[in-house]
Amino acid sequence: MRLQGKVAAITGGALGIGRATAVLFASEGATVALGDVEVGAAEAVVKEILQRGGRAIAVGVDVGDVGQVQAYVDRVVAEYGRLDVMFANAGIAHSAPFLEHPEAQWHRVLRVNLTGVFLCCQVAARQMVKQGGGRIITTASINGFRGVENLVGYNVAKAGVIEMTKTMAVELAQHHITVNAIAPAQIDTRLTRSLPEDARRRRTERIPMGRFGEPEDVARAALFLASDDASYVTGHTLAVDGGYLAGGLWSRKPEGTGRG
Ligand SMILES: NC(=O)c1ccc[n+]([C@@H]2O[C@H](COP(=O)([O-])OP(=O)(O)OC[C@H]3O[C@@H](n4cnc5c(N)ncnc54)[C@H](O)[C@@H]3O)[C@@H](O)[C@H]2O)c1
Repeated sequence: MRLQGKVAAITGGALGIGRATAVLFASEGATVALGDVEVGAAEAVVKEILQRGGRAIAVGVDVGDVGQVQAYVDRVVAEYGRLDVMFANAGIAHSAPFLEHPEAQWHRVLRVNLTGVFLCCQVAARQMVKQGGGRIITTASINGFRGVENLVGYNVAKAGVIEMTKTMAVELAQHHITVNAIAPAQIDTRLTRSLPEDARRRRTERIPMGRFGEPEDVARAALFLASDDASYVTGHTLAVDGGYLAGGLWSRKPEGTGRG
Protein backbone atom coordinates (compact mmCIF):
# COMPACT_ATOMS: atom_id res chain seq x y z
CA MET A 1 0.00 0.00 0.00
CA ARG A 2 2.61 2.50 -1.11
CA LEU A 3 0.06 5.20 -2.04
CA GLN A 4 -2.34 4.84 0.87
CA GLY A 5 -4.41 8.01 1.28
CA LYS A 6 -3.02 9.69 -1.84
CA VAL A 7 -5.15 11.23 -4.58
CA ALA A 8 -3.79 10.80 -8.10
CA ALA A 9 -4.94 12.31 -11.40
CA ILE A 10 -3.99 10.20 -14.42
CA THR A 11 -4.55 11.58 -17.91
CA GLY A 12 -5.02 9.12 -20.72
CA GLY A 13 -6.27 6.78 -18.00
CA ALA A 14 -8.77 4.99 -20.24
CA LEU A 15 -6.26 2.88 -22.15
CA GLY A 16 -2.74 1.53 -22.31
CA ILE A 17 -0.16 2.93 -19.92
CA GLY A 18 -2.63 5.24 -18.15
CA ARG A 19 -5.09 2.43 -17.56
CA ALA A 20 -2.42 0.07 -16.16
CA THR A 21 -1.15 2.85 -13.89
CA ALA A 22 -4.64 3.66 -12.61
CA VAL A 23 -5.26 0.01 -11.74
CA LEU A 24 -1.86 -0.31 -10.02
CA PHE A 25 -2.13 2.99 -8.09
CA ALA A 26 -5.62 2.03 -6.89
CA SER A 27 -4.35 -1.36 -5.75
CA GLU A 28 -1.65 0.50 -3.76
CA GLY A 29 -4.29 2.52 -1.89
CA ALA A 30 -4.59 5.66 -4.03
CA THR A 31 -7.84 7.27 -5.06
CA VAL A 32 -7.50 7.75 -8.82
CA ALA A 33 -9.18 10.27 -11.12
CA LEU A 34 -8.93 9.15 -14.72
CA GLY A 35 -8.99 12.06 -17.15
CA ASP A 36 -9.59 11.16 -20.77
CA VAL A 37 -11.42 12.17 -23.94
CA GLU A 38 -12.72 8.59 -24.13
CA VAL A 39 -15.03 8.81 -21.14
CA GLY A 40 -16.83 5.52 -21.79
CA ALA A 41 -13.55 3.59 -21.77
CA ALA A 42 -12.40 5.49 -18.65
CA GLU A 43 -15.66 4.57 -16.91
CA ALA A 44 -15.04 0.90 -17.69
CA VAL A 45 -11.66 1.15 -15.93
CA VAL A 46 -13.33 2.86 -12.96
CA LYS A 47 -15.84 0.00 -12.77
CA GLU A 48 -13.00 -2.52 -12.71
CA ILE A 49 -11.22 -0.61 -9.92
CA LEU A 50 -14.41 -0.28 -7.85
CA GLN A 51 -15.08 -4.02 -8.22
CA ARG A 52 -11.64 -4.69 -6.72
CA GLY A 53 -12.49 -2.46 -3.75
CA GLY A 54 -10.58 0.62 -4.95
CA ARG A 55 -11.66 4.27 -5.27
CA ALA A 56 -11.84 5.96 -8.67
CA ILE A 57 -13.71 8.44 -10.84
CA ALA A 58 -13.66 9.15 -14.56
CA VAL A 59 -13.64 12.72 -15.84
CA GLY A 60 -14.04 13.73 -19.48
CA VAL A 61 -11.18 16.07 -20.32
CA ASP A 62 -9.30 17.20 -23.38
CA VAL A 63 -5.83 17.99 -22.01
CA GLY A 64 -5.24 20.61 -24.69
CA ASP A 65 -8.05 22.81 -23.35
CA VAL A 66 -7.09 24.85 -20.27
CA GLY A 67 -10.72 25.28 -19.15
CA GLN A 68 -11.30 21.53 -19.21
CA VAL A 69 -8.02 20.83 -17.40
CA GLN A 70 -8.92 23.34 -14.68
CA ALA A 71 -12.39 21.79 -14.35
CA TYR A 72 -10.80 18.32 -14.08
CA VAL A 73 -8.49 19.32 -11.23
CA ASP A 74 -11.27 21.36 -9.55
CA ARG A 75 -13.51 18.30 -9.66
CA VAL A 76 -10.84 16.11 -8.06
CA VAL A 77 -10.23 18.67 -5.30
CA ALA A 78 -13.97 19.19 -4.73
CA GLU A 79 -14.50 15.45 -4.48
CA TYR A 80 -11.44 14.41 -2.44
CA GLY A 81 -10.10 17.64 -0.93
CA ARG A 82 -6.61 17.38 -2.44
CA LEU A 83 -4.38 16.29 -5.31
CA ASP A 84 -1.12 14.53 -4.48
CA VAL A 85 -0.02 13.11 -7.82
CA MET A 86 -0.48 14.30 -11.40
CA PHE A 87 0.50 11.76 -14.07
CA ALA A 88 0.41 13.80 -17.30
CA ASN A 89 0.37 10.85 -19.63
CA ALA A 90 -2.22 11.38 -22.40
CA GLY A 91 -0.67 11.34 -25.85
CA ILE A 92 -1.28 10.79 -29.54
CA ALA A 93 0.93 10.25 -32.58
CA HIS A 94 0.82 11.03 -36.26
CA SER A 95 3.14 9.20 -38.59
CA ALA A 96 4.22 10.83 -41.87
CA PRO A 97 7.52 11.50 -43.65
CA PHE A 98 8.95 14.91 -42.78
CA LEU A 99 8.52 16.21 -46.35
CA GLU A 100 4.82 15.37 -46.31
CA HIS A 101 3.97 15.92 -42.66
CA PRO A 102 0.72 17.95 -42.64
CA GLU A 103 0.89 21.18 -40.66
CA ALA A 104 -2.51 20.42 -39.11
CA GLN A 105 -1.14 17.16 -37.64
CA TRP A 106 1.96 18.95 -36.34
CA HIS A 107 -0.30 21.33 -34.40
CA ARG A 108 -2.62 18.52 -33.22
CA VAL A 109 0.24 16.41 -31.83
CA LEU A 110 1.95 19.38 -30.14
CA ARG A 111 -1.35 20.55 -28.66
CA VAL A 112 -1.98 17.24 -26.87
CA ASN A 113 1.56 15.98 -26.21
CA LEU A 114 3.28 19.24 -25.27
CA THR A 115 0.69 21.92 -24.43
CA GLY A 116 -1.48 19.28 -22.75
CA VAL A 117 1.37 18.29 -20.44
CA PHE A 118 2.13 21.95 -19.69
CA LEU A 119 -1.50 22.70 -18.78
CA CYS A 120 -2.04 19.60 -16.63
CA CYS A 121 1.22 20.14 -14.75
CA GLN A 122 0.67 23.88 -14.25
CA VAL A 123 -2.89 23.53 -12.97
CA ALA A 124 -1.93 20.59 -10.73
CA ALA A 125 1.20 22.35 -9.42
CA ARG A 126 -0.83 25.41 -8.36
CA GLN A 127 -2.97 23.11 -6.21
CA MET A 128 0.08 21.28 -4.85
CA VAL A 129 1.76 24.57 -3.89
CA LYS A 130 -1.31 25.36 -1.77
CA GLN A 131 -1.04 21.92 -0.14
CA GLY A 132 2.70 22.19 0.49
CA GLY A 133 3.89 19.46 -1.87
CA GLY A 134 3.13 16.79 -4.43
CA ARG A 135 4.38 14.57 -7.21
CA ILE A 136 4.28 15.25 -10.93
CA ILE A 137 5.13 12.58 -13.48
CA THR A 138 5.12 13.15 -17.23
CA THR A 139 5.20 10.62 -20.03
CA ALA A 140 7.95 11.45 -22.49
CA SER A 141 9.38 8.80 -24.84
CA ILE A 142 12.67 7.46 -26.11
CA ASN A 143 11.66 9.51 -29.17
CA GLY A 144 12.52 12.58 -27.09
CA PHE A 145 16.17 11.49 -27.43
CA ARG A 146 16.16 10.02 -30.92
CA GLY A 147 15.07 11.25 -34.34
CA VAL A 148 12.79 8.30 -35.05
CA GLU A 149 11.69 8.56 -38.66
CA ASN A 150 8.22 9.77 -39.72
CA LEU A 151 7.38 11.18 -36.30
CA VAL A 152 8.77 14.71 -36.31
CA GLY A 153 5.93 16.36 -34.36
CA TYR A 154 5.80 13.54 -31.82
CA ASN A 155 9.59 13.53 -31.32
CA VAL A 156 9.72 17.30 -30.83
CA ALA A 157 6.85 17.19 -28.32
CA LYS A 158 8.54 14.44 -26.31
CA ALA A 159 11.92 16.24 -26.31
CA GLY A 160 9.98 19.27 -25.06
CA VAL A 161 8.39 17.23 -22.29
CA ILE A 162 11.86 16.15 -21.07
CA GLU A 163 13.04 19.77 -20.92
CA MET A 164 9.76 20.94 -19.38
CA THR A 165 10.16 18.28 -16.69
CA LYS A 166 13.63 19.60 -15.77
CA THR A 167 12.43 23.22 -15.64
CA MET A 168 9.43 22.33 -13.50
CA ALA A 169 11.64 20.26 -11.17
CA VAL A 170 13.98 23.20 -10.64
CA GLU A 171 11.20 25.75 -10.07
CA LEU A 172 8.92 23.57 -7.96
CA ALA A 173 11.54 22.01 -5.65
CA GLN A 174 11.08 24.92 -3.21
CA HIS A 175 7.42 23.90 -2.92
CA HIS A 176 8.30 20.27 -2.13
CA ILE A 177 6.98 19.08 -5.49
CA THR A 178 9.07 16.52 -7.38
CA VAL A 179 8.78 16.33 -11.16
CA ASN A 180 10.05 13.39 -13.19
CA ALA A 181 9.47 11.94 -16.64
CA ILE A 182 9.19 8.39 -17.87
CA ALA A 183 10.54 7.60 -21.33
CA PRO A 184 9.01 4.36 -22.56
CA ALA A 185 10.19 2.61 -25.69
CA GLN A 186 7.93 0.19 -27.51
CA ILE A 187 5.01 -0.61 -25.25
CA ASP A 188 2.21 -2.88 -26.38
CA THR A 189 -0.75 -0.45 -26.51
CA ARG A 190 -3.17 0.88 -29.12
CA LEU A 191 -0.48 3.39 -30.10
CA THR A 192 1.86 0.64 -31.32
CA ARG A 193 -0.65 -2.07 -32.24
CA SER A 194 -1.35 -0.39 -35.57
CA LEU A 195 2.30 -0.80 -36.60
CA PRO A 196 2.77 -3.05 -39.63
CA GLU A 197 4.29 -6.44 -38.71
CA ASP A 198 7.58 -5.58 -40.43
CA ALA A 199 7.99 -2.31 -38.50
CA ARG A 200 7.20 -4.14 -35.27
CA ARG A 201 9.85 -6.79 -36.00
CA ARG A 202 12.48 -4.17 -36.84
CA ARG A 203 11.73 -2.26 -33.65
CA THR A 204 11.95 -5.45 -31.56
CA GLU A 205 15.39 -6.13 -33.07
CA ARG A 206 16.61 -2.85 -31.55
CA ILE A 207 15.51 -3.76 -28.02
CA PRO A 208 18.24 -5.67 -26.12
CA MET A 209 15.57 -7.41 -24.02
CA GLY A 210 14.04 -8.67 -27.25
CA ARG A 211 10.40 -7.79 -26.60
CA PHE A 212 7.92 -4.94 -26.51
CA GLY A 213 7.16 -3.71 -22.99
CA GLU A 214 3.80 -4.15 -21.31
CA PRO A 215 1.83 -1.16 -19.96
CA GLU A 216 2.41 -2.62 -16.47
CA ASP A 217 6.20 -2.23 -16.94
CA VAL A 218 5.64 1.53 -17.21
CA ALA A 219 3.03 1.61 -14.44
CA ARG A 220 5.54 0.14 -11.96
CA ALA A 221 8.05 2.89 -12.83
CA ALA A 222 5.31 5.48 -12.29
CA LEU A 223 4.52 3.89 -8.92
CA PHE A 224 8.15 4.24 -7.86
CA LEU A 225 8.19 7.93 -8.86
CA ALA A 226 4.88 8.59 -7.07
CA SER A 227 5.92 6.78 -3.89
CA ASP A 228 8.00 7.84 -0.89
CA ASP A 229 10.84 5.71 -2.29
CA ALA A 230 11.50 8.51 -4.81
CA SER A 231 11.35 11.41 -2.37
CA TYR A 232 14.83 12.72 -3.38
CA VAL A 233 14.45 12.05 -7.12
CA THR A 234 13.51 15.06 -9.23
CA GLY A 235 14.20 16.36 -12.74
CA HIS A 236 14.99 12.85 -13.91
CA THR A 237 13.83 11.05 -17.04
CA LEU A 238 13.55 7.32 -16.41
CA ALA A 239 13.79 5.20 -19.54
CA VAL A 240 11.56 2.13 -19.44
CA ASP A 241 12.78 0.68 -22.67
CA GLY A 242 14.26 -2.81 -22.34
CA GLY A 243 17.71 -1.28 -22.94
CA TYR A 244 16.86 0.52 -26.20
CA LEU A 245 18.61 3.81 -25.40
CA ALA A 246 21.64 2.02 -23.99
CA GLY A 247 22.03 0.13 -27.24
CA GLY A 248 22.95 2.89 -29.68
CA LEU A 249 23.13 1.27 -33.10
CA TRP A 250 22.96 -2.15 -31.51
CA SER A 251 20.73 -4.72 -33.19
CA ARG A 252 19.78 -8.27 -32.21
CA LYS A 253 20.30 -9.33 -35.82
CA PRO A 254 24.00 -10.28 -36.18
CA GLU A 255 23.97 -9.04 -39.77
CA GLY A 256 21.88 -6.02 -38.78
CA THR A 257 22.85 -2.58 -39.97
CA GLY A 258 21.53 -1.14 -36.73
CA ARG A 259 18.71 0.68 -38.47
CA GLY A 260 15.47 0.23 -36.55
N1 LIG B 1 3.05 2.76 -26.46
C1 LIG B 1 4.31 3.13 -26.60
O1 LIG B 1 5.13 2.41 -27.17
C2 LIG B 1 4.77 4.46 -26.06
C3 LIG B 1 6.14 4.73 -26.13
C4 LIG B 1 6.60 5.95 -25.64
C5 LIG B 1 5.71 6.85 -25.10
N2 LIG B 1 4.38 6.56 -25.06
C6 LIG B 1 3.49 7.57 -24.49
O2 LIG B 1 2.71 6.99 -23.47
C7 LIG B 1 1.51 7.76 -23.30
C8 LIG B 1 0.32 6.82 -23.26
O3 LIG B 1 0.22 6.17 -24.53
P1 LIG B 1 -0.31 4.67 -24.72
O4 LIG B 1 0.77 3.93 -25.39
O5 LIG B 1 -0.87 4.17 -23.45
O6 LIG B 1 -1.42 4.96 -25.81
P2 LIG B 1 -3.00 4.70 -25.84
O7 LIG B 1 -3.45 5.18 -27.16
O8 LIG B 1 -3.29 3.30 -25.43
O9 LIG B 1 -3.55 5.66 -24.68
C9 LIG B 1 -3.55 7.06 -24.82
C10 LIG B 1 -4.70 7.61 -24.02
O10 LIG B 1 -4.69 9.04 -24.11
C11 LIG B 1 -6.03 9.49 -24.35
N3 LIG B 1 -6.03 10.80 -25.01
C12 LIG B 1 -5.65 11.08 -26.28
N4 LIG B 1 -5.82 12.40 -26.54
C13 LIG B 1 -6.29 12.95 -25.40
C14 LIG B 1 -6.65 14.27 -25.02
N5 LIG B 1 -6.57 15.28 -25.90
N6 LIG B 1 -7.08 14.49 -23.76
C15 LIG B 1 -7.19 13.46 -22.87
N7 LIG B 1 -6.87 12.18 -23.18
C16 LIG B 1 -6.43 11.94 -24.43
C17 LIG B 1 -6.63 8.40 -25.20
O11 LIG B 1 -8.05 8.45 -25.22
C18 LIG B 1 -6.07 7.14 -24.55
O12 LIG B 1 -6.87 6.72 -23.46
C19 LIG B 1 1.50 8.74 -24.46
O13 LIG B 1 1.95 10.01 -24.01
C20 LIG B 1 2.48 8.14 -25.44
O14 LIG B 1 3.04 9.12 -26.28
C21 LIG B 1 3.89 5.38 -25.52
